Amino acid sequence: MTDRKDETKPHQAPGRDAAADPTPGAPPASGTPAATPPSPEPADVAHKDAPVAGEAEGTGTKQYTGAIENPILRVDDLRVAFDIRPRGAWPWTPSKKLHAVGGVSFDLAPGESLGVVGESGSGKSTLARAIVGTIGSTGGRIEFEGEDLASMSERQRRAHRKDVQMVFQDPLAALNPRMTVGDIIAEPLITHEPKTPRKEVRRRVAELMERVGLLPNLVNRYPHEFSGGQCQRIGIARALILKPKLLICDEPVSALDVSVQAQVVNLLKELQRDMGLAMIFIAHDLSVVKHISDRIVVMYLGRVMEVAPSKMLATEPEHPYTQALIASVPIPDPVLERQRQRPVLGGELPSPMSPPSGCVFRTRCPKAKPDCAQGLPPMLDLGGGHRVACPYHEEPSVLDAARQSRRAG
Ligand SMILES: Nc1ncnc2c1ncn2[C@@H]1O[C@H](COP(=O)(O)OP(=O)(O)OP(=O)(O)O)[C@@H](O)[C@H]1O
Ligand code: SF4
Ligand SMILES: [Mg+2]
Repeated sequence: MTDRKDETKPHQAPGRDAAADPTPGAPPASGTPAATPPSPEPADVAHKDAPVAGEAEGTGTKQYTGAIENPILRVDDLRVAFDIRPRGAWPWTPSKKLHAVGGVSFDLAPGESLGVVGESGSGKSTLARAIVGTIGSTGGRIEFEGEDLASMSERQRRAHRKDVQMVFQDPLAALNPRMTVGDIIAEPLITHEPKTPRKEVRRRVAELMERVGLLPNLVNRYPHEFSGGQCQRIGIARALILKPKLLICDEPVSALDVSVQAQVVNLLKELQRDMGLAMIFIAHDLSVVKHISDRIVVMYLGRVMEVAPSKMLATEPEHPYTQALIASVPIPDPVLERQRQRPVLGGELPSPMSPPSGCVFRTRCPKAKPDCAQGLPPMLDLGGGHRVACPYHEEPSVLDAARQSRRAG
């Protein structure tokens, strides 16, 4: 593992020394990604003003989350903002910026499975769409196999579109109702490799259908003839027909019955292992993510709060937000569930159009201190791949009591 250079430590506080970490790491409104990338400022300017989350463009306020050698994917201080025009505004009224992703950095190793969790609106899908390349970024870099996405040639872009595939949340909506299952699965192959002989296309479709647990003789059926779980299997087969290197699954099971969720998660896990795929698995639910991910990134309001190997994050969460997420998962035992102390996560997710200054979680954090408003908290390295963006993570709070009662359960 190598580390990149940490440029700033804007938020000094007790707890572990930030210097120990030399480095890295919905419905949409009618917005479009803001076009102009920000121009970088010297790092020393960055310390003067506490940056508002998501407005940290070029101010040297990166929160590194650990770097690995030869990653398949490197996301470096990625920012995505949408231009939002208020309803009924005059044409000359300036649009506002909605900071959906406000400076996210992480690396993904080939064959690694990375979970991304966070509440609705925390920027997970926007992050995924930026990595796939369907929306542009407003700052930072995305490198796939060492190539900067923003400066790829058309040929490299085509290769990128083949190498990075997505599985979507609503399986039925993602499939064209007028196409047969065989045609749906084959479509990306025919588009990207039009010279593939028809016989070979049919062979690959049948092979994949079998691999994802669908009978190949259903190849001429239409999506409405399948259950939600089966439709998701069709979506997975379609995503895999081009033999991608990275599969991004955006809430692939949240629209499915609980009884089917585990089957689809297990299928994805098997495919990821057998095909040596790198995977980003996005979900609200930590208990789903931890089964499939080697590491987990916790996002809140477009920023990374904590990163750790899955087991470590599930058993030793350090960030107050992660602790609250874990505490909100019900304990299956009704007696323990009734006795358990629930942490109070006050208030709603703030608007990404005017995120809190400093630590974006401070308006709901039971450990918040006045200086949490002053600057971005540093990403502290706790060792073993565990990083947390909170200098007060060791201080006790109601969340620790909740954690104790969960452990007892
Ligand atoms: N095209 C768009 N135009 C304007 N705003 C958008 C657009 N896409 C997303 N947003 C906004 O960006 C923020 C992050 O949205 P995103 O869909 O990435 O969150 P999410 O974490 O995937 O949420 P969910 O769990 O509900 O899917 C939200 O406030 C959302 O309304
Ligand atoms: S104590 Fe709470 S508000 Fe302050 S930095 Fe940590 S998480 Fe953010
Ligand atoms: Mg989403």
